[in-house]
Amino acid sequence: MSDHVLETTDLVAGYLPGVNILNGCSVHVDRGELVGIIGPNGAGKSTLLKAIFGLVNVRSGTITLDGRDITGMKPDRLVSAGVGFVPQTENVFPRLTIRENLEMGCYQNPRLFGERLEFVAGLFPELASRLGQRAGGLSGGERQMVAMSRALMMDPQVLLLDEPSAGLSPVRQDETFLNVARINAAGVSVLIVEQNARRALQICDRGYVLDQGRDAYVGPGHQLLEDPEVVRLYLGTLAEDHTAG
Ligand SMILES: Nc1ncnc2c1ncn2[C@@H]1O[C@H](COP(=O)(O)OP(=O)(O)O)[C@@H](O)[C@H]1O
Ligand SMILES: [Mg+2]
Repeated sequence: MSDHVLETTDLVAGYLPGVNILNGCSVHVDRGELVGIIGPNGAGKSTLLKAIFGLVNVRSGTITLDGRDITGMKPDRLVSAGVGFVPQTENVFPRLTIRENLEMGCYQNPRLFGERLEFVAGLFPELASRLGQRAGGLSGGERQMVAMSRALMMDPQVLLLDEPSAGLSPVRQDETFLNVARINAAGVSVLIVEQNARRALQICDRGYVLDQGRDAYVGPGHQLLEDPEVVRLYLGTLAEDHTAG
């Protein structure tokens, strides 16, 4: 068993021929860790998660899960291998109830449903009491809770979250960061991408700054928050963007 539950090494990936978005990106998540990826808009944060989850072609470099090469694996196989992914948008089935959304989360292994429902209900009792409600009628924060719970139904080794706080009011953002910390405290390794950089680094064990498709800085969350270069280059403007938006 590797300490790195998830690791990318020199990842190069992109959408259009000849245009690389990830330019040699190396990040890892240790077992039980909460790791944040911050960086300017367009840095390639979502592309990194999509490449890990088999949604963007990897041109070179490798991705391993618990030491096993998963580069180029398709999303459905990655889910059964232990990768959970919550995309930034359209991450719930709005016409389905909360319960049905959770069932979709473990359609590959429906026998897990009862046990996993207990796990997510322990994390989010407010969802458990409303299983019959349609996901489309929920608030943005509640929908994020459903989306994260859906991804937890297969008991993933690592959970990938793309900007869970995006589009939420400040109070709901705070709740969402607390929810992410709660999921991690329950033993789930998490890789979270966030534009709300300060808030993300506050809850993360370690953070990476992604810039132009490369890991530019890495360190403990609190250390990055106090690093003058990181503050000058990334946190100042991001913080302004954030309050402006
Ligand atoms: N489906 C796509 N096709 C082509 N280019 C894309 C696509 N999605 C994203 N890009 C480009 O990839 C770059 C990085 O995007 P993204 O990973 O979404 O950045 P971030 O999440 O850090 O804001 C941007 O220049 C963006 O325009
Ligand atoms: Mg993004």
